[in-house]
Amino acid sequence: MQIDNETVVFASGDLQDEGKGLRFPLPKLGNFATGFVIRFHGKPYAYVNQCAHIPVELDWNEGDFFTSENDYLICSTHGAHYQPQTGYCVRGPCKGKHLKPIGVTEQDQKIIIHIASIK
Ligand code: FES
Repeated sequence: MQIDNETVVFASGDLQDEGKGLRFPLPKLGNFATGFVIRFHGKPYAYVNQCAHIPVELDWNEGDFFTSENDYLICSTHGAHYQPQTGYCVRGPCKGKHLKPIGVTEQDQKIIIHIASIK
């Protein structure tokens, strides 16, 4: 992982399709704030690691964001289910809300997360 004020960069090969997510610090949002990136159907998606129900991290085991069927992202606290491509909550106590997205691009075997874009 490479990190500066604008971007976080991972090697593309470090992110497996529907596999473990990669976490990164987001000091702009607080000392302990983190974000994560996952790959779903070949494409990377990044979000602030904070449930839309209560602002806790989603992953209980570090990097485990997918359900056992690998079809949704799941909050380990109360089980909210989010669409991986949109961050939209389809099931659980925050149904209808969203994870906060972070811009991400992939080129030249690198995943570039645009943390400066977080509002
Ligand atoms: S804190 Fe995530 S579903 Fe309640």
